[in-house]
Amino acid sequence: MTHEIIIAPSILSADFAKLGEEVRAVDRAGADWIHIDVMDGHFVPNITMGAMVVKALRPHTKKVFDVHLMIAPCDPYIEAFADAGADMITVHVSAGPHLDRSLQLIRRFGVKAGVSLTPSTHENTIEYVLDKVDHVLVMTVNPGFGGQTFIPEQLHKIRAIKKMIGERPIQIEVDGGIHVETAPLVVEAGANALVSGSGIFDGGRYAENIAAIRAAAMRGRVA
Ligand code: DX5
Ligand code: ZN
Repeated sequence: MTHEIIIAPSILSADFAKLGEEVRAVDRAGADWIHIDVMDGHFVPNITMGAMVVKALRPHTKKVFDVHLMIAPCDPYIEAFADAGADMITVHVSAGPHLDRSLQLIRRFGVKAGVSLTPSTHENTIEYVLDKVDHVLVMTVNPGFGGQTFIPEQLHKIRAIKKMIGERPIQIEVDGGIHVETAPLVVEAGANALVSGSGIFDGGRYAENIAAIRAAAMRGRVA
């Protein structure tokens, strides 16, 4: 089932000792995409998981694997994530000198290509690659950790990107500090895919949390 509003639980907030079970649980709970945060301890000050983990999780769900690379360099690893079963791969503008090449590489492997902007990255940096992306991921916290506070200045950036995109079939995804209070704000600004880690996994009521964020997001759509 596809929704106009996409909810993508970030397994960064899952129990790493039972990741397969956690992925099955959010699948059953109504997740649209599974958001997988890959961190290298270099581009961001934290280390999480690599392509081998993505491959191990692949048999646990048929849902879209939305792989968010927070690594530098990223080009040498794109094939491995594509082979592991990623449906979407997102690279950061600030992670390398040749963004256009990275995006072409992702599409060459038949995977949807995305570009991400940290809170300090200007929207103009993606102007010349818009015809090579399927989604834009606006970070609403500084990448590296779950459970941080939403940065409201990013709403302006979402609006600017929505305008730049025009009629192109590009999804606007947001990541960081998304919960029932912030979901309507980002949707009102133009986002349609919402990543949430702590907002879904904390407390263990995955279905309730996903439904609540989705309902809050829908309020932003009609606002
Ligand atoms: C942060 C990650 C996010 C993180 C979001 O660098 O990219 O996906 O899991 O966590 P919350 O939703 O808790 O802010
Ligand atoms: Zn992420």
